[in-house]
Amino acid sequence: MASGKPTLVLGIETTCDETAAAVVERQPDGGGRILSNIVRSQIAEHAPFGGVVPEIAARAHVDMLDGIVRQAMTEAGIGFDKLNGVAAAAGPGLIGGVIVGLTTAKAIALVHKTPLIAVNHLEAHALTPRLTAGLAFPYCLFLASGGHTQIVAVLGVGKYVRLGTTVDDAIGEAFDKIAKMLGLPYPGGPEVERAARHGDPKRFEFPRPMVGRPDANFSLSGLKTAVRNEAARMIEPSPQDIADLCAGFQAAVLDLTSDRIAVGLRLFHDQFGPPRALVAAGGVAANLAIRNALQDIAAKAQTTLIIPPPALCTDNGAMIAWAGAERLALGMLDDLDSAPRARWRLDEDAQTPAKFAKTRAQH
Ligand code: KG4
Ligand code: ZN
Repeated sequence: MASGKPTLVLGIETTCDETAAAVVERQPDGGGRILSNIVRSQIAEHAPFGGVVPEIAARAHVDMLDGIVRQAMTEAGIGFDKLNGVAAAAGPGLIGGVIVGLTTAKAIALVHKTPLIAVNHLEAHALTPRLTAGLAFPYCLFLASGGHTQIVAVLGVGKYVRLGTTVDDAIGEAFDKIAKMLGLPYPGGPEVERAARHGDPKRFEFPRPMVGRPDANFSLSGLKTAVRNEAARMIEPSPQDIADLCAGFQAAVLDLTSDRIAVGLRLFHDQFGPPRALVAAGGVAANLAIRNALQDIAAKAQTTLIIPPPALCTDNGAMIAWAGAERLALGMLDDLDSAPRARWRLDEDAQTPAKFAKTRAQH
């Protein structure tokens, strides 16, 4: 199959609060096309709790996934017999949801006798710009969502080196927690960004944790605590107080993110030469102020900034299908007994290539 025919892969994503399925076609020359991409967000179910509730998420995935898969297949206009592979995000993520998605993919693989690809969710984010922009390796990924904050050198399929990560909260998580403490709705990122537009970023002097350090790691919890302490001093914060707190918080995030990525790009350059691009993915990449800051950092580092379209930046099935198709093309398949994983470091494959990269003859 690797010899010359396009491949069709179904991808399933259930690691957090999106139930998603998609069909992607990969050309033998490495090009790709999305035939369907169905995403059903559970935001409404979780909003009353101010964050994702794992038990509610798992139940919603159980209820929704079959219908979403059927819709993805119908929209793609193909039957299961036409699939060359079925991919599911096997982690990292909320384990209940991961089990639902991976088990469904296994059932489809078994019944329709098609290969299974157990995809690392982070790898799927990492490979998306190859689908959307045909980007060649190597490149530097900044992944910032509600669950992850990482700077990764993407060197090839299954070849990743983590250059930096958060030692406590993810950036999106910090946005969500700030929103919650200020009484803004969930998800907090867009709300904090909106409030910050009317605020004075200089009124409060918030810390910029990790700035100036030679590694490319992040820390958000000290900043979050500083905002909480400032808010606690006010008996009832006015809308202007809230706007100023949000502006001060976002300004600190911009500074620390810029510093950390600049260091990450330097580390990349030292170890692997110039990256072909700086890629940003994850929900936080929707933040306009952060996008502008990334543009500046990329320009200073003499590289291009690539941000996939918003629907492919946040969690979706097409990225899982695409990562599955890339792995399938290299014969990197998985067994039906492969385990769902709550934690799964992206660079584990690089450390133990034989463990995950099973090469088998494809049909
Ligand atoms: O990638 P994503 O949709 O889902 C996962 O977390 O996997 O990212 C959602 C996160 C949330 O924490 C949300 O608050 C944050 O991305 N986010 C933002 C913005 N839009 C979404 N953070 C800052 N500014 C935004 N405009
Ligand atoms: Zn994600």
